[in-house]
Amino acid sequence: MSAPQPLFQLGDDDFPPLRTLHATNLPAQPSPLIGRERELEETIGLLSDRTRLLTLTGAGGSGKTRLALQLAAEVADDFPDGAFWVPLAAVSEAELVLPTVAGTIGAKDGLAQHVDAKRMLLLLDNFEQVMGAARELGDLLRRCSNLKLLITSRAALRLSGEWEFQVEPLAEPDAVSLFTERARAIDARVEPDESVAEICRRLDGLPLAIELAAARVRILAPKELLTRLEQRLPLLTGGPRDAPERQRTLRATIEWSYDLLDPDEQRLFTDLSVFAESFDLQAAEAVCDASLDLVERLVERSLLRRWASGRLGMLETIREFGLEQLESSGERDAIARAHFDYFMSLAKHAELTGENTPTWLGRLDADRENLRAAIRWALDEREPVLALRLAGTLGRYWVIRAHEEGYGWLTESLEAAPDAPADVRAAALMWAGSTIFLTGDYERRAALSEEALELYRQLGDKQTSPTCSTASRRRRCSWATTKGPGRSQIRASPSSARSETERARSTHCRKSRGMSGVEETGHAELP
Ligand SMILES: Nc1ncnc2c1ncn2[C@@H]1O[C@H](COP(=O)(O)OP(=O)(O)OP(=O)(O)O)[C@@H](O)[C@H]1O
Ligand SMILES: [Mg+2]
Repeated sequence: MSAPQPLFQLGDDDFPPLRTLHATNLPAQPSPLIGRERELEETIGLLSDRTRLLTLTGAGGSGKTRLALQLAAEVADDFPDGAFWVPLAAVSEAELVLPTVAGTIGAKDGLAQHVDAKRMLLLLDNFEQVMGAARELGDLLRRCSNLKLLITSRAALRLSGEWEFQVEPLAEPDAVSLFTERARAIDARVEPDESVAEICRRLDGLPLAIELAAARVRILAPKELLTRLEQRLPLLTGGPRDAPERQRTLRATIEWSYDLLDPDEQRLFTDLSVFAESFDLQAAEAVCDASLDLVERLVERSLLRRWASGRLGMLETIREFGLEQLESSGERDAIARAHFDYFMSLAKHAELTGENTPTWLGRLDADRENLRAAIRWALDEREPVLALRLAGTLGRYWVIRAHEEGYGWLTESLEAAPDAPADVRAAALMWAGSTIFLTGDYERRAALSEEALELYRQLGDKQTSPTCSTASRRRRCSWATTKGPGRSQIRASPSSARSETERARSTHCRKSRGMSGVEETGHAELP
C-alpha cells in the first residue's frame, strides 16, 4: 500500500490487530506508485533473503526514495520490531547520523543496545552526503544481528555485505503515465499522446524531471513544452512547495550531486559532458585525460551511467548541467577541439573496406552522435575546413549507412568552406556525389563529380581523366582511365554502379596520394 486505505470488516469474528500500522513511521504517499513492479519484486526478494544492507543507488530524482518507501511498506510485516524511515537529506555531518537514527526510533540508551536483537528495518534516506558514517553502520550491523538496513544514496557505501540495486529512470510507458497523471491534476484535458511520449524521452524517463515538466502544463500545452525542451534546465523549475529544497528545480538536484564531488571529479565530470550520448573509456582517456579510477567514481556517484552496451554516458539533463559548467570553466574550446581531434582520428583509421568493415561500422555507429557533434562544433566555431575534412573522411561511412545525412553534412560544409584546400574540397565533392547518387539524383551527382574532377586535374593528377558530360543527363556517367580496370561505362543501376564507382575512386585515390600530398588532408582514404 502506498496510501491509507479504508478497511471493512465482514462477519462477527475477532480480527487480530493490523500489524503494519504499529512501529512504523513510513509516510503515506500523496499519489500511487507508478510502475516499478519488477524493481519491487527483485528488492523484496533481496530483503526477504539474507541481504542485510541493501542500497538503492541512482541519479538525483530517479525515484530511489519513492521506491524505497514502497519497498519498506511492503516488507514491514517481516519486521515485528518496526520499519522506520530516517530522512538524512538535512543532516550534513556524518557524526550526526547515528544520533539522528537513535532519535527517530526512540533509542535513549545508545542505538546498538536499543536495537540489540530486535527484528527491525531502518530506511536511511539520502545517505550520499554523510558517507563518513558508513563504517559506523557496518559496526551497527555487526552488533545487531536481526537488523536490516535499506539505504537510498546517489553512491554506494562500499561496505562488505552491501547489495547495490540501481534505480534506473522509468520505462517509457510508466514515464508517460507519470507525466499524464501529474499534468491532469492541473489540466484534465492532457492526453498521453506522442508529444508527451517525446517529452518523456527527452527527459530520459527521469521521474523528477517529468514531474517538473508536467507542472508546466499550467501555461504550456505539451506540444509547446516540447519545443522549449531544447534547454531543459531553465524550464524544469517550480517544484511544489512541499518538495525538498534540492528537488524544487532540476538544476538544484544535479548541483547537490556535483557539490559532493572533489575537485578532480568535478573537472572530469565537466569535461566528459563534451561527449554526446555515449562514449567509451578510451575516448574519455584521450579527450579528457580521464583515469579509470576517476571514471569509476563518477559512475558510483550516479553522475555517469554505464549502459548495457558497456559504454558510458550521462542522462541528458545531467549533461546539460555539465555543459554549463564546461562553458563557464573557460575550458570548452580546448576540450571540444580535443573531442574533434579524437573523432577525426577515429574516422581516419576506420577500415571500411575488407574484413574489418563490420567492426568499424559498429564503432562509428556507436559514436554517430559524437561524429555529428564534432562536425557541428567545427561548423559553429567557424572552422568549416575541419568540418569538411571530417565529413569527407567519413564519406564511405555515409555511403554505407546514412547517405542522406552524409550529403547534408558534406554540402553544408562545402558551402561554408569555399576556400578549403582543393584536395579537401575535391574529396568532399566526390563523396557528396556518391551520397546523392544513392538517392537517384544522377544529374546532381554528375555535376558534383565534375567539379571534383576539375579540382583533381588542377592538382596535377593527369592520369585519371573521368568525363561526366551530357551523358550524365541521360542518367549515366563514364570514367576514362588510362590505367586500372580499363574504360568502364557505369550505368545508373545503384549496386553495380556503386561498386564500379568505388573501384574507380580508389584507383584515383592511390594515384592522387602519391602525386599531390593528399595524405595531409587527413583522409584515410579518398574517394
Ligand atoms: N514510480 C513512481 N511513481 C510515482 N511518482 C514517482 C515515482 N518515482 C518517482 N516519483 C516522484 O518523482 C520525484 C522524485 O523521486 P524521488 O524523490 O524518489 O527521487 P530520488 O531518487 O530519491 O531523488 P534524490 O536523489 O534527490 O533523493 C518524487 O516527487 C517522487 O514522488
Ligand atoms: Mg531521495
